Amino acid sequence: KHDVLTTIVVFGASGDLAKKKTYPALFHLFQQKLLPKRTRIIGYARTQMTTDDFNKRVTSFFKPSDPADEVAAFLEICEYVSGKYDVDEDFQRLREEIDTNEHAMNKRESDERVHIYYLALPPSVFVSVGTQIRNNVYDGTCTNRVVIEKPFGHDLDSSRKLSQAIGGLFAEDEIYRIDHYLGKEMVKNILALRFANVFYEAVWTRHYISNVQITFKEPFGTEGRGGYFDEFGIIRDVMQNHLLQVLSIVAMRQPKSLRSEDIRDCKTEVLRRILPIQLEDTLLGQYVGTRDGSKPGYKDDDTVPKDSITPTYAQCVLHVDNDRWRGVPWVIKAGKALDEAKMVIRIQFKDMPNALFPNLARNELVLQVSPKESVSIKTIVKEPGLSTNLAMSELDLSYHKRYQDLKIPDAYATLILDVLNGDHSNFVRSDELDEAWRIFTPLLHQIETEQIVPLPYEYGSRGPKGVDEFPTERAGYKPTAKEYHWEPKSA
Ligand code: BG6
Repeated sequence: KHDVLTTIVVFGASGDLAKKKTYPALFHLFQQKLLPKRTRIIGYARTQMTTDDFNKRVTSFFKPSDPADEVAAFLEICEYVSGKYDVDEDFQRLREEIDTNEHAMNKRESDERVHIYYLALPPSVFVSVGTQIRNNVYDGTCTNRVVIEKPFGHDLDSSRKLSQAIGGLFAEDEIYRIDHYLGKEMVKNILALRFANVFYEAVWTRHYISNVQITFKEPFGTEGRGGYFDEFGIIRDVMQNHLLQVLSIVAMRQPKSLRSEDIRDCKTEVLRRILPIQLEDTLLGQYVGTRDGSKPGYKDDDTVPKDSITPTYAQCVLHVDNDRWRGVPWVIKAGKALDEAKMVIRIQFKDMPNALFPNLARNELVLQVSPKESVSIKTIVKEPGLSTNLAMSELDLSYHKRYQDLKIPDAYATLILDVLNGDHSNFVRSDELDEAWRIFTPLLHQIETEQIVPLPYEYGSRGPKGVDEFPTERAGYKPTAKEYHWEPKSA
Protein backbone atom coordinates (compact mmCIF):
# COMPACT_ATOMS: atom_id res chain seq x y z
CA LYS A 1 0.00 0.00 0.00
CA HIS A 2 2.11 2.78 -1.30
CA ASP A 3 -0.02 5.76 -0.38
CA VAL A 4 -0.45 5.09 3.33
CA LEU A 5 0.94 7.95 5.42
CA THR A 6 3.37 6.03 7.62
CA THR A 7 5.29 6.81 10.78
CA ILE A 8 7.68 4.28 12.29
CA VAL A 9 9.03 5.00 15.76
CA VAL A 10 11.98 2.85 16.79
CA PHE A 11 12.28 2.86 20.58
CA GLY A 12 15.72 1.89 21.80
CA ALA A 13 17.19 3.41 18.64
CA SER A 14 20.61 3.75 20.25
CA GLY A 15 20.76 0.05 21.14
CA ASP A 16 22.22 -3.06 19.60
CA LEU A 17 19.11 -4.57 18.04
CA ALA A 18 18.25 -1.30 16.33
CA LYS A 19 21.66 -0.90 14.75
CA LYS A 20 22.22 -4.55 13.86
CA LYS A 21 18.75 -5.48 12.65
CA THR A 22 16.01 -2.85 12.63
CA TYR A 23 17.73 -0.05 10.71
CA PRO A 24 19.48 -2.31 8.16
CA ALA A 25 16.10 -3.97 7.50
CA LEU A 26 14.35 -0.61 7.09
CA PHE A 27 17.10 0.51 4.74
CA HIS A 28 16.74 -2.68 2.71
CA LEU A 29 13.00 -2.03 2.31
CA PHE A 30 13.74 1.59 1.39
CA GLN A 31 16.21 0.46 -1.30
CA GLN A 32 13.67 -1.98 -2.69
CA LYS A 33 11.09 0.84 -2.74
CA LEU A 34 8.91 -1.13 -0.39
CA LEU A 35 8.40 1.62 2.18
CA PRO A 36 5.32 3.72 1.44
CA LYS A 37 6.19 6.91 -0.44
CA ARG A 38 5.35 9.07 2.56
CA THR A 39 7.25 7.43 5.43
CA ARG A 40 9.01 9.00 8.37
CA ILE A 41 11.22 7.02 10.75
CA ILE A 42 11.79 8.45 14.21
CA GLY A 43 14.43 6.92 16.49
CA TYR A 44 13.77 7.40 20.19
CA ALA A 45 16.10 6.59 23.09
CA ARG A 46 17.50 8.08 26.26
CA THR A 47 21.00 8.89 25.01
CA GLN A 48 21.60 12.48 23.88
CA MET A 49 23.08 12.33 20.38
CA THR A 50 23.74 14.72 17.56
CA THR A 51 22.20 13.90 14.19
CA ASP A 52 25.65 13.00 12.99
CA ASP A 53 26.31 10.55 15.81
CA PHE A 54 22.91 9.03 15.34
CA ASN A 55 23.39 8.62 11.60
CA LYS A 56 26.75 6.98 12.11
CA ARG A 57 25.31 4.61 14.65
CA VAL A 58 22.30 3.39 12.71
CA THR A 59 24.27 2.91 9.51
CA SER A 60 27.18 1.12 11.18
CA PHE A 61 25.84 -2.29 10.06
CA PHE A 62 25.01 -1.26 6.50
CA LYS A 63 27.13 -2.96 3.86
CA PRO A 64 30.26 -1.19 2.62
CA SER A 65 28.85 -1.74 -0.88
CA ASP A 66 25.65 0.24 -0.13
CA PRO A 67 25.65 3.28 -2.46
CA ALA A 68 26.32 6.49 -0.53
CA ASP A 69 23.51 8.40 -2.26
CA GLU A 70 20.96 5.76 -1.27
CA VAL A 71 22.18 5.86 2.31
CA ALA A 72 21.92 9.65 2.30
CA ALA A 73 18.40 9.52 0.85
CA PHE A 74 17.40 7.03 3.54
CA LEU A 75 18.80 9.23 6.30
CA GLU A 76 16.64 12.07 4.93
CA ILE A 77 13.53 10.25 6.13
CA CYS A 78 15.09 9.43 9.53
CA GLU A 79 15.46 11.57 12.61
CA TYR A 80 16.27 11.12 16.27
CA VAL A 81 14.42 12.25 19.38
CA SER A 82 15.90 11.66 22.80
CA GLY A 83 13.73 11.25 25.87
CA LYS A 84 13.19 9.17 28.98
CA TYR A 85 11.06 6.04 28.95
CA ASP A 86 8.75 7.17 31.75
CA VAL A 87 8.30 10.94 31.38
CA ASP A 88 4.98 12.23 30.05
CA GLU A 89 6.39 15.42 28.56
CA ASP A 90 8.99 13.50 26.55
CA PHE A 91 6.32 11.34 24.95
CA GLN A 92 4.10 14.38 24.36
CA ARG A 93 7.03 15.91 22.49
CA LEU A 94 7.25 12.73 20.45
CA ARG A 95 3.56 12.97 19.58
CA GLU A 96 4.03 16.60 18.48
CA GLU A 97 6.95 15.52 16.31
CA ILE A 98 4.81 12.87 14.65
CA ASP A 99 2.02 15.42 13.99
CA THR A 100 4.47 17.95 12.59
CA ASN A 101 5.95 15.33 10.28
CA GLU A 102 2.55 14.25 9.04
CA HIS A 103 1.70 17.82 8.11
CA ALA A 104 5.05 18.16 6.38
CA MET A 105 4.14 15.02 4.37
CA ASN A 106 0.91 16.74 3.24
CA LYS A 107 -1.51 14.91 5.43
CA ARG A 108 -5.06 15.02 4.08
CA GLU A 109 -8.32 14.21 5.87
CA SER A 110 -8.90 11.22 3.62
CA ASP A 111 -5.43 9.71 4.13
CA GLU A 112 -5.04 6.25 5.52
CA ARG A 113 -2.47 6.63 8.30
CA VAL A 114 -0.38 4.09 10.19
CA HIS A 115 1.78 4.51 13.27
CA ILE A 116 4.21 1.68 13.96
CA TYR A 117 5.89 1.54 17.37
CA TYR A 118 8.88 -0.78 17.26
CA LEU A 119 10.06 -1.60 20.77
CA ALA A 120 13.73 -2.57 20.36
CA LEU A 121 13.99 -2.47 24.13
CA PRO A 122 14.81 -4.66 27.12
CA PRO A 123 11.68 -6.19 28.66
CA SER A 124 12.15 -4.19 31.88
CA VAL A 125 10.84 -1.09 30.09
CA PHE A 126 8.20 -2.71 27.79
CA VAL A 127 5.29 -1.85 30.04
CA SER A 128 6.46 1.63 30.95
CA VAL A 129 7.00 2.56 27.30
CA GLY A 130 3.74 0.87 26.29
CA THR A 131 1.89 2.88 28.92
CA GLN A 132 3.49 6.12 27.75
CA ILE A 133 2.59 5.37 24.14
CA ARG A 134 -0.97 4.61 25.14
CA ASN A 135 -1.35 7.76 27.26
CA ASN A 136 0.59 10.31 25.29
CA VAL A 137 1.22 9.18 21.73
CA TYR A 138 -1.52 6.76 20.67
CA ASP A 139 -3.75 8.22 17.99
CA GLY A 140 -7.23 6.70 17.85
CA THR A 141 -7.86 8.17 14.40
CA CYS A 142 -5.24 6.02 12.67
CA THR A 143 -4.06 2.41 12.65
CA ASN A 144 -1.56 1.64 15.43
CA ARG A 145 0.83 -1.32 15.42
CA VAL A 146 3.19 -2.25 18.23
CA VAL A 147 6.15 -4.51 17.50
CA ILE A 148 7.82 -6.31 20.41
CA GLU A 149 10.69 -8.75 20.73
CA LYS A 150 11.47 -11.55 23.13
CA PRO A 151 12.08 -12.25 25.94
CA PHE A 152 8.37 -12.38 26.67
CA GLY A 153 8.79 -13.33 30.31
CA HIS A 154 10.87 -16.22 31.61
CA ASP A 155 8.16 -18.75 32.45
CA LEU A 156 4.39 -19.23 32.14
CA ASP A 157 3.58 -16.99 35.07
CA SER A 158 5.79 -14.04 34.18
CA SER A 159 4.77 -14.29 30.53
CA ARG A 160 1.08 -14.17 31.48
CA LYS A 161 1.68 -11.10 33.63
CA LEU A 162 3.46 -9.37 30.77
CA SER A 163 0.73 -10.38 28.30
CA GLN A 164 -1.92 -9.02 30.63
CA ALA A 165 -0.10 -5.73 31.09
CA ILE A 166 0.46 -5.28 27.34
CA GLY A 167 -3.01 -6.60 26.53
CA GLY A 168 -4.43 -3.88 28.79
CA LEU A 169 -2.76 -1.26 26.62
CA PHE A 170 -3.19 -2.56 23.07
CA ALA A 171 -5.60 -4.88 21.30
CA GLU A 172 -4.18 -8.26 20.18
CA ASP A 173 -4.51 -7.25 16.54
CA GLU A 174 -2.34 -4.19 17.20
CA ILE A 175 0.47 -6.34 18.64
CA TYR A 176 3.21 -7.98 16.54
CA ARG A 177 5.42 -10.34 18.59
CA ILE A 178 8.56 -10.99 16.59
CA ASP A 179 10.12 -14.42 16.39
CA HIS A 180 12.64 -13.73 13.67
CA TYR A 181 12.81 -17.41 12.66
CA LEU A 182 9.34 -16.94 11.18
CA GLY A 183 10.86 -14.48 8.72
CA LYS A 184 13.49 -16.90 7.40
CA GLU A 185 13.13 -18.02 3.80
CA MET A 186 13.14 -21.75 4.45
CA VAL A 187 10.76 -21.48 7.40
CA LYS A 188 8.32 -19.51 5.27
CA ASN A 189 8.78 -22.18 2.62
CA ILE A 190 7.42 -24.97 4.82
CA LEU A 191 3.78 -24.09 4.15
CA ALA A 192 4.38 -23.97 0.39
CA LEU A 193 6.22 -27.29 0.34
CA ARG A 194 3.63 -29.03 2.43
CA PHE A 195 0.43 -27.65 1.00
CA ALA A 196 1.32 -26.98 -2.63
CA ASN A 197 2.80 -30.43 -3.41
CA VAL A 198 0.64 -33.49 -3.34
CA PHE A 199 3.42 -35.93 -2.45
CA TYR A 200 4.65 -34.34 0.78
CA GLU A 201 1.29 -34.04 2.46
CA ALA A 202 0.44 -37.61 1.48
CA VAL A 203 3.17 -39.04 3.71
CA TRP A 204 3.07 -36.39 6.45
CA THR A 205 1.82 -38.67 9.22
CA ARG A 206 2.96 -41.17 11.84
CA HIS A 207 2.29 -43.93 9.30
CA TYR A 208 5.30 -42.85 7.23
CA ILE A 209 7.40 -40.56 9.43
CA SER A 210 9.55 -42.17 12.09
CA ASN A 211 11.02 -39.11 13.82
CA VAL A 212 11.82 -35.45 13.28
CA GLN A 213 14.89 -33.51 14.37
CA ILE A 214 15.14 -29.74 14.45
CA THR A 215 18.72 -28.64 15.05
CA PHE A 216 20.25 -25.25 15.80
CA LYS A 217 24.04 -24.97 16.06
CA GLU A 218 26.18 -21.91 16.58
CA PRO A 219 29.99 -21.88 16.40
CA PHE A 220 30.43 -19.09 18.94
CA GLY A 221 29.75 -18.71 22.66
CA THR A 222 27.96 -15.95 24.53
CA GLU A 223 30.67 -13.41 23.64
CA GLY A 224 29.64 -10.37 25.64
CA ARG A 225 26.02 -11.45 26.10
CA GLY A 226 26.76 -13.64 29.11
CA GLY A 227 24.84 -11.37 31.47
CA TYR A 228 21.62 -11.72 29.48
CA PHE A 229 22.22 -15.32 28.59
CA ASP A 230 22.86 -16.60 32.08
CA GLU A 231 19.39 -15.57 33.22
CA PHE A 232 17.81 -17.40 30.30
CA GLY A 233 19.85 -20.33 29.07
CA ILE A 234 19.62 -22.06 25.71
CA ILE A 235 16.13 -23.49 26.31
CA ARG A 236 14.55 -20.06 26.77
CA ASP A 237 16.87 -18.33 24.29
CA VAL A 238 16.27 -20.54 21.27
CA MET A 239 14.09 -23.60 21.95
CA GLN A 240 10.96 -22.25 23.59
CA ASN A 241 10.59 -19.75 20.75
CA HIS A 242 12.45 -20.38 17.47
CA LEU A 243 12.57 -24.18 17.44
CA LEU A 244 9.09 -24.67 18.82
CA GLN A 245 7.68 -22.23 16.26
CA VAL A 246 9.33 -24.20 13.47
CA LEU A 247 8.03 -27.44 14.96
CA SER A 248 4.47 -26.12 15.04
CA ILE A 249 4.58 -25.26 11.32
CA VAL A 250 5.97 -28.67 10.40
CA ALA A 251 3.35 -30.41 12.54
CA MET A 252 0.21 -28.33 11.92
CA ARG A 253 -2.69 -29.44 9.75
CA GLN A 254 -3.66 -27.57 6.61
CA PRO A 255 -5.25 -24.24 7.52
CA LYS A 256 -8.66 -23.29 6.08
CA SER A 257 -7.04 -20.39 4.24
CA LEU A 258 -3.82 -18.40 4.24
CA ARG A 259 -5.39 -15.74 6.45
CA SER A 260 -3.16 -15.11 9.42
CA GLU A 261 -5.69 -16.15 12.04
CA ASP A 262 -6.36 -19.44 10.25
CA ILE A 263 -2.64 -20.18 10.22
CA ARG A 264 -2.15 -19.17 13.83
CA ASP A 265 -5.19 -21.23 14.90
CA CYS A 266 -3.60 -24.35 13.38
CA LYS A 267 -0.22 -23.67 14.99
CA THR A 268 -1.83 -23.13 18.37
CA GLU A 269 -3.89 -26.29 17.97
CA VAL A 270 -0.67 -28.32 17.58
CA LEU A 271 1.01 -26.65 20.54
CA ARG A 272 -2.00 -27.52 22.70
CA ARG A 273 -1.36 -31.19 22.00
CA ILE A 274 2.31 -31.14 23.00
CA LEU A 275 2.94 -32.73 26.36
CA PRO A 276 5.17 -30.88 28.86
CA ILE A 277 8.78 -32.00 28.41
CA GLN A 278 10.20 -34.44 30.93
CA LEU A 279 13.65 -34.08 32.46
CA GLU A 280 14.39 -37.72 31.44
CA ASP A 281 13.84 -36.67 27.83
CA THR A 282 16.46 -33.96 28.07
CA LEU A 283 20.23 -33.77 27.64
CA LEU A 284 21.93 -30.63 28.97
CA GLY A 285 25.42 -29.29 28.36
CA GLN A 286 27.59 -26.28 29.11
CA TYR A 287 30.75 -25.44 27.16
CA VAL A 288 34.20 -25.30 28.68
CA GLY A 289 37.35 -23.74 27.22
CA THR A 290 39.39 -25.55 24.61
CA ARG A 291 42.29 -27.66 25.88
CA ASP A 292 44.79 -25.40 24.17
CA GLY A 293 43.23 -22.37 25.88
CA SER A 294 42.47 -20.59 22.61
CA LYS A 295 38.73 -20.40 23.27
CA PRO A 296 37.16 -19.55 26.65
CA GLY A 297 34.62 -21.59 28.54
CA TYR A 298 31.16 -20.24 29.34
CA LYS A 299 32.12 -19.52 32.95
CA ASP A 300 35.26 -17.67 31.86
CA ASP A 301 32.94 -14.90 30.66
CA ASP A 302 33.20 -12.11 33.27
CA THR A 303 29.47 -11.49 33.17
CA VAL A 304 28.68 -15.13 34.08
CA PRO A 305 28.71 -16.29 37.74
CA LYS A 306 31.54 -18.76 38.40
CA ASP A 307 29.12 -21.40 39.68
CA SER A 308 26.57 -21.03 36.88
CA ILE A 309 24.71 -24.21 35.87
CA THR A 310 22.88 -22.52 32.98
CA PRO A 311 22.77 -24.85 29.96
CA THR A 312 24.32 -23.60 26.73
CA TYR A 313 23.37 -26.86 24.97
CA ALA A 314 20.19 -28.94 25.12
CA GLN A 315 18.37 -31.73 23.36
CA CYS A 316 14.75 -32.47 24.23
CA VAL A 317 12.26 -35.02 22.97
CA LEU A 318 8.72 -33.71 22.46
CA HIS A 319 5.54 -35.61 21.72
CA VAL A 320 2.55 -34.26 19.83
CA ASP A 321 -0.40 -36.15 21.21
CA ASN A 322 -2.81 -36.15 18.27
CA ASP A 323 -3.92 -38.72 15.70
CA ARG A 324 -1.48 -37.55 13.08
CA TRP A 325 1.63 -37.65 15.26
CA ARG A 326 1.07 -40.00 18.21
CA GLY A 327 4.22 -42.12 18.59
CA VAL A 328 6.50 -39.87 16.52
CA PRO A 329 9.29 -38.32 18.63
CA TRP A 330 10.34 -34.76 17.82
CA VAL A 331 13.89 -33.99 18.90
CA ILE A 332 14.86 -30.35 19.21
CA LYS A 333 18.52 -29.56 19.72
CA ALA A 334 20.30 -26.29 20.25
CA GLY A 335 23.76 -25.28 21.30
CA LYS A 336 26.29 -22.49 21.40
CA ALA A 337 30.06 -22.84 20.89
CA LEU A 338 29.72 -25.93 18.69
CA ASP A 339 31.64 -27.12 15.64
CA GLU A 340 29.56 -25.31 13.00
CA ALA A 341 26.75 -22.87 12.21
CA LYS A 342 23.67 -24.72 11.03
CA MET A 343 19.92 -24.86 11.28
CA VAL A 344 18.31 -27.97 9.85
CA ILE A 345 14.92 -29.68 9.92
CA ARG A 346 15.37 -33.42 9.34
CA ILE A 347 12.33 -35.60 8.77
CA GLN A 348 13.22 -39.28 8.81
CA PHE A 349 10.80 -41.73 7.23
CA LYS A 350 10.07 -45.27 8.39
CA ASP A 351 11.70 -48.40 7.09
CA MET A 352 10.36 -49.76 3.82
CA PRO A 353 7.69 -52.30 4.79
CA ASN A 354 8.84 -55.03 2.38
CA ALA A 355 11.88 -57.28 2.39
CA LEU A 356 12.67 -57.15 -1.32
CA PHE A 357 15.82 -55.19 -0.53
CA PRO A 358 17.15 -55.97 2.93
CA ASN A 359 18.84 -53.47 5.31
CA LEU A 360 17.81 -50.35 3.51
CA ALA A 361 18.81 -46.97 4.85
CA ARG A 362 15.92 -44.60 5.50
CA ASN A 363 14.62 -41.77 3.36
CA GLU A 364 14.97 -38.33 4.86
CA LEU A 365 13.60 -34.98 3.85
CA VAL A 366 16.09 -32.35 4.93
CA LEU A 367 15.35 -28.64 4.95
CA GLN A 368 18.43 -26.56 5.59
CA VAL A 369 17.36 -23.19 6.96
CA SER A 370 20.91 -21.83 7.22
CA PRO A 371 23.59 -21.20 6.20
CA LYS A 372 22.93 -22.45 2.63
CA GLU A 373 19.22 -22.82 2.07
CA SER A 374 18.30 -26.15 0.54
CA VAL A 375 15.69 -28.89 0.31
CA SER A 376 16.92 -32.43 -0.23
CA ILE A 377 15.50 -35.92 -0.07
CA LYS A 378 17.79 -38.80 0.70
CA THR A 379 16.81 -41.34 -1.91
CA ILE A 380 17.99 -44.87 -2.63
CA VAL A 381 18.93 -45.73 -6.20
CA LYS A 382 20.59 -48.62 -7.97
CA GLU A 383 24.29 -47.97 -8.03
CA PRO A 384 24.83 -46.72 -11.56
CA GLY A 385 26.69 -49.05 -13.94
CA LEU A 386 26.96 -52.82 -14.00
CA SER A 387 26.51 -53.12 -10.25
CA THR A 388 23.20 -54.29 -8.86
CA ASN A 389 23.93 -52.86 -5.42
CA LEU A 390 21.91 -50.03 -3.97
CA ALA A 391 23.35 -46.64 -3.14
CA MET A 392 22.20 -43.67 -1.09
CA SER A 393 21.75 -40.58 -3.20
CA GLU A 394 19.65 -37.42 -3.06
CA LEU A 395 17.13 -35.32 -4.92
CA ASP A 396 18.36 -31.89 -4.13
CA LEU A 397 17.44 -28.27 -4.49
CA SER A 398 20.25 -25.97 -3.42
CA TYR A 399 18.79 -22.48 -3.55
CA HIS A 400 21.99 -20.68 -4.42
CA LYS A 401 22.63 -22.99 -7.34
CA ARG A 402 19.07 -23.17 -8.61
CA TYR A 403 18.30 -19.45 -8.31
CA GLN A 404 21.15 -17.47 -9.81
CA ASP A 405 22.08 -14.18 -8.09
CA LEU A 406 19.71 -15.00 -5.31
CA LYS A 407 19.71 -12.50 -2.46
CA ILE A 408 17.67 -13.80 0.40
CA PRO A 409 16.49 -10.84 2.51
CA ASP A 410 17.21 -10.76 6.20
CA ALA A 411 14.33 -12.11 8.28
CA TYR A 412 13.79 -8.67 9.80
CA ALA A 413 13.16 -7.04 6.43
CA THR A 414 10.48 -9.62 5.63
CA LEU A 415 8.86 -9.21 9.00
CA ILE A 416 8.83 -5.41 8.98
CA LEU A 417 7.25 -5.58 5.54
CA ASP A 418 4.55 -7.82 7.03
CA VAL A 419 3.97 -5.22 9.75
CA LEU A 420 3.61 -2.50 7.11
CA ASN A 421 1.05 -4.70 5.36
CA GLY A 422 -0.77 -5.52 8.58
CA ASP A 423 -0.14 -9.26 8.12
CA HIS A 424 0.09 -11.21 11.37
CA SER A 425 0.80 -14.67 9.89
CA ASN A 426 4.47 -14.65 10.85
CA PHE A 427 4.03 -13.24 14.34
CA VAL A 428 3.32 -15.03 17.58
CA ARG A 429 -0.18 -14.72 19.03
CA SER A 430 -0.64 -14.48 22.78
CA ASP A 431 -2.28 -17.90 23.10
CA GLU A 432 0.60 -19.49 21.14
CA LEU A 433 3.07 -17.88 23.49
CA ASP A 434 1.14 -19.14 26.47
CA GLU A 435 1.19 -22.71 25.14
CA ALA A 436 4.91 -22.49 24.43
CA TRP A 437 5.60 -21.59 28.03
CA ARG A 438 3.24 -24.30 29.30
CA ILE A 439 5.34 -26.91 27.46
CA PHE A 440 8.69 -25.75 28.86
CA THR A 441 7.95 -24.25 32.29
CA PRO A 442 7.80 -27.45 34.42
CA LEU A 443 11.14 -28.59 32.94
CA LEU A 444 12.78 -25.19 33.46
CA HIS A 445 11.59 -25.04 37.05
CA GLN A 446 12.76 -28.57 37.75
CA ILE A 447 16.21 -27.84 36.32
CA GLU A 448 16.42 -24.80 38.59
CA THR A 449 15.03 -26.25 41.80
CA GLU A 450 16.94 -29.51 41.53
CA GLN A 451 20.05 -27.67 40.36
CA ILE A 452 20.67 -30.08 37.49
CA VAL A 453 24.30 -29.76 36.46
CA PRO A 454 24.83 -29.76 32.68
CA LEU A 455 27.48 -32.00 31.08
CA PRO A 456 30.66 -30.22 29.98
CA TYR A 457 31.64 -30.04 26.30
CA GLU A 458 34.60 -28.40 24.69
CA TYR A 459 34.15 -25.13 22.78
CA GLY A 460 34.04 -26.04 19.09
CA SER A 461 33.02 -29.69 19.60
CA ARG A 462 29.79 -31.49 18.61
CA GLY A 463 28.41 -31.11 22.14
CA PRO A 464 28.43 -33.09 25.39
CA LYS A 465 28.87 -36.87 25.64
CA GLY A 466 25.83 -38.59 24.20
CA VAL A 467 24.81 -36.00 21.57
CA ASP A 468 24.88 -38.47 18.74
CA GLU A 469 23.40 -41.40 20.64
CA PHE A 470 20.52 -39.39 22.10
CA PRO A 471 18.31 -39.17 18.97
CA THR A 472 18.90 -42.86 18.24
CA GLU A 473 18.19 -44.05 21.76
CA ARG A 474 15.37 -41.65 22.56
CA ALA A 475 13.72 -41.16 19.20
CA GLY A 476 14.61 -44.19 17.10
CA TYR A 477 16.66 -42.14 14.64
CA LYS A 478 18.69 -44.41 12.32
CA PRO A 479 21.85 -42.65 11.19
CA THR A 480 22.82 -43.00 7.55
CA ALA A 481 26.16 -44.71 6.86
CA LYS A 482 29.09 -42.41 7.66
CA GLU A 483 30.38 -42.58 4.05
CA TYR A 484 27.27 -40.80 2.84
CA HIS A 485 27.73 -37.07 2.72
CA TRP A 486 25.96 -34.30 0.88
CA GLU A 487 26.35 -30.53 1.22
CA PRO A 488 24.11 -27.88 -0.32
CA LYS A 489 25.79 -26.45 -3.41
CA SER A 490 26.72 -22.84 -4.00
CA ALA A 491 26.27 -20.94 -7.26
C1 BG6 B 1 18.41 -15.03 19.00
C2 BG6 B 1 19.12 -15.58 20.20
O1 BG6 B 1 17.04 -15.00 19.23
O2 BG6 B 1 18.69 -15.85 17.88
C3 BG6 B 1 20.62 -15.66 19.95
O3 BG6 B 1 18.87 -14.74 21.32
C4 BG6 B 1 20.90 -16.43 18.68
O4 BG6 B 1 21.28 -16.26 21.05
C5 BG6 B 1 20.05 -15.89 17.53
O5 BG6 B 1 22.26 -16.25 18.39
C6 BG6 B 1 20.19 -16.75 16.28
O6 BG6 B 1 19.61 -16.12 15.19
P1 BG6 B 1 20.18 -16.35 13.71
O7 BG6 B 1 19.22 -15.61 12.85
O8 BG6 B 1 21.55 -15.80 13.70
O9 BG6 B 1 20.14 -17.82 13.49
